[in-house]
Amino acid sequence: MSSIIRMWGKMQSEAIEGRIIHKPRIVRIEKSSVETASIKSIFFRDKLSSKAEPGQFLMIWIPGLDEIPMSISYALEDGSVAISVKMVGRATNTLYFRRTGQPIGIRGPYGVGYKLTEGDVTPVTEDGAYGVKGVASEVAETELEKSDYDIIYTCGPELMIKKIVDLGSKYSVPVQASLERIMKCGMGICGSCAIDSYRVCKDGPVFHGETLKDLKDFGVTTRDHSGKRVPL
Ligand SMILES: Cc1cc2nc3c(=O)[nH]c(=O)nc-3n(C[C@H](O)[C@H](O)[C@H](O)COP(=O)(O)OP(=O)(O)OC[C@H]3O[C@@H](n4cnc5c(N)ncnc54)[C@H](O)[C@@H]3O)c2cc1C
Ligand code: FES
Repeated sequence: MSSIIRMWGKMQSEAIEGRIIHKPRIVRIEKSSVETASIKSIFFRDKLSSKAEPGQFLMIWIPGLDEIPMSISYALEDGSVAISVKMVGRATNTLYFRRTGQPIGIRGPYGVGYKLTEGDVTPVTEDGAYGVKGVASEVAETELEKSDYDIIYTCGPELMIKKIVDLGSKYSVPVQASLERIMKCGMGICGSCAIDSYRVCKDGPVFHGETLKDLKDFGVTTRDHSGKRVPL
């Protein structure tokens, strides 16, 4: 009986938490920081987002324009949160130029994040701005040849991720990879982010390499804004 009560309590708290994360909240931009000519971090306060797992994302509403997915790039226990936006189109350009004090809407955090393991990390960036400089898949192969690694975490262009997943199989190292797809609902309803039978917004965005390597869409096709399957 007590286990049924505990299970019922857990279901209720999950349902309440679900209702809360889906509820749009309006926050005001507290400050922003220019990272590069096309990337800016935008800071605001939101308790729920500050508890997100690494790799989870928010749906960001830009009033009067659009709602787009953005990863959480900074989160502190006191509720301070940031997203780091790169200008690639209309919504990201408008978000980039939003000023301190202006409102944005948020939902989430959504999705499955990275499961972190203990130990040292070797970060890799193409321009060397952080960690080892080089093309991620090439640096990964060199590193895997000379040292033992417990896990590879990756995000970025899907063709690069595909190479990393293949390397993970070759060297028997598990991979966790964050995928990007066009997202509309962000919570598993509309299907715009589908990859094979998975929904990137709900089953990911972080997937295990073992799951990805058997998917026929992985590294081959994505979906456009209308939902049509198109080559990557
Ligand atoms: C889970 C997730 C997390 C993300 N986190 C970040 C982040 O932290 N910072 C950031 O700057 N961007 C992030 N993005 C990408 C961001 O959502 C898109 O760049 C944005 O929606 C583009 O909107 P736009 O109107 O500016 O450009 P659009 O005019 O809509 O698109 C410009 C170009 O980008 C492509 N594109 C648009 N959306 C996506 C997408 N979701 N995946 C792949 N290609 C896309 C379009 O096909 C087009 O070629 C994330 C995407 C996902 C799915
Ligand atoms: S964005 Fe709607 S199902 Fe993923």
